[in-house]
Formats: sequence, structure tokens, C-alpha cells
Amino acid sequence: MKIATCKAPVNIAVIKYWGKRDENLILPINDSISATLSLDHMCAKTTIVSSPDLTETRFWLNGELQSTGNKRFQKCLEEIKKRAKPDVECLNWHLNIVSENNFPTAAGLASSAAGYACLVYTLAQIYEVDGNISSVGRMGSGSACRSFFGGWVRWLKGEKNDGSDSLAIQVAPENHWPEMRVLVLVVSDHKKAYSSTSGMKTSVETSELLKYRAENIVPRRVEEMVQAIQNKDFPTFAKLTMQDSNQFHSSCLDTYPPCFYLNDTSRVIIELIHAYNEFREETKVAYTFDAGPNACLYLLEKDVAEVIEMINYVFPSEPIAMSSYFKGKAVPYTTI
Ligand code: PMV
Repeated sequence: MKIATCKAPVNIAVIKYWGKRDENLILPINDSISATLSLDHMCAKTTIVSSPDLTETRFWLNGELQSTGNKRFQKCLEEIKKRAKPDVECLNWHLNIVSENNFPTAAGLASSAAGYACLVYTLAQIYEVDGNISSVGRMGSGSACRSFFGGWVRWLKGEKNDGSDSLAIQVAPENHWPEMRVLVLVVSDHKKAYSSTSGMKTSVETSELLKYRAENIVPRRVEEMVQAIQNKDFPTFAKLTMQDSNQFHSSCLDTYPPCFYLNDTSRVIIELIHAYNEFREETKVAYTFDAGPNACLYLLEKDVAEVIEMINYVFPSEPIAMSSYFKGKAVPYTTI
């Protein structure tokens, strides 16, 4: 019998991935960049047992039995097994997989990123696979490939049709910008109305803005973002982050029929952050929103207390400032 337990953190994109050029292999239409959060607050945890005594492979997510017929799950399992040495004895044994997230699943809080990174990383422990396995995580959920590294991570869209060069690389390590923090404001923990998969598909089919963004804006913006991160230039980093979040949500609105991920509270947060930056006469906070209404705020440690106080004043009961973070990557928690 073999058992492995791993944890993987979520990552929050500052240059967004939105749109696939290949649905099956999950190949994106543009590069994206994110920071990986620490394991302290928001992470997935997965335990896998592999044994010759098991008669079927079963998978529980947050206590509920899932279908293992799921195409993406099968693809990750198949790809990891392909990379294993043929003499690994458990290759033909069944698995029991138990996974849980310590934060709302499918509420636009990168749960699938942490979940698939964790699943693939734990499978890699079971089948003794090393190397850059981010491209395997990508086949579960695109953004998952960025959770295999800590610090600042870039997902290269790649050029090849087989997806072999569409993988994540580290732009800067965990300790590069130690003052950086993220506050997650949970506006709603309800399951999102449109999954990112269906939203992206409709966007690619119908939004001319998305096409323009991917071809003409993001290539320049990723280079500027890498520079801003490497130079620890917060005002430039913050402006690019907010502009990219806004352009991603504009592309969602430009989709036909449109997909709305932001709600009225999200829009109040956007206005509030701009008003705060203006009042302080300095860009001190950046907001970014994924495929949901919850806000992630990037800011420096020295400003955290004042910003939390302001948020609690404006929203006395909600949203909740959940996490102040940094650094992290998929790590084996215990491997027996
Ligand atoms: O990996 P997916 O299919 O959950 O897509 C997530 C896309 C965004 O979170 C909206 C943006 C990103 O780059 O993470």
C-alpha cells in the first residue's frame, strides 16, 4: 500500500488567463501571471491511498463522492502515469482519493487551481514522478499549472499544438517581495452562475475585444508586469493589475450573451480602492477579480492595518477580510 498527503495553495492572477485555443488540452490564447498564496489560509489538501486490495478508484471532494469518469480527472491520471517509470509497482492498483478545500469551492476563488495542482502533485508522489508537472495540472484546470510554484509565476501559452511547451515557470521566488500581501474579500461564497469553462468558450467564440486583448495587449502587458515585479515597483504593478482585471471583465461583458461575474458590492470595492488611492495621493492598493464577485486586494504590509480598518468601516458585516499572505507552493505534507 502507498499513501501520500499533500497541500497546494491557490494562486491569484494579476494578468488574467481567459480563453482557450485548444479546449481538450487546455491551451490558452495568452500568457498569464499570478502570485501563489501561502498555505496558511486558502489551500487544497489531498490524500491518496493506492493499494492492490482496492477494487475500484474513488474520489471524494469535500466529503462528496465524485464521478471518476470526469474527463479532466482521467486526463491528469493518465498523463502522470505516462511519466512514471514502468517498474513502479502501484501503476495498476486502484486509488482512493480524498480532497478538501478550506475555502468556498467554485465561488471564483481559484478552488479548481489549488484542487487540481494538489491532485496532480499527490499523484506524482504516489507514482514517483519528478520534473515540471505543471503541464499535467494544466489539463485539470488551466490556472492550476501556476500553483506548482511559489512566488510569482508565469504560465507560458506555448507555441506547439501538443501543449508540451504550455507550462508554468517562476518569475520571482517566494522571498523576492516579502512586503507583499493579499487580502481576500469574500463578497459571496455561492457557486458562480457561469463556470469559467463555459464563460471562456462563449468569450472566445463571440468577443472581438478578447481577441484584440490576447493578440495586442497582453503580450506587452506581461513584459511590463514581469519588470514591475522584478523591480518591486508597486505603483506600476498595481495599475497593470487593475487594468487587466477590468479588461478581463470588459471582455466578459463583450461576450454574447454576456457573462457577469462582478456584482454591486464588487463595483463598490473598485470605486472605494480608487478613492482611497486618490485620497492617499499614491497607488497603495490594487484590486483584481477572477470569475466571481470576490475581490483580491494586493497591497504592502505597511498599509494592511489601515486598509482592513477602512473595509470593516465601509462593510461592517461583509465582506470578510479572509487572508493576508504570501509565499507558498505545492508541498508534500506527509508522505508515507
Ligand atoms: O483555470 P480556470 O478554468 O478556473 O480559469 C480561471 C481563470 C481566471 O481565474 C478568471 C483567471 C486566471 O488567470 O486565474
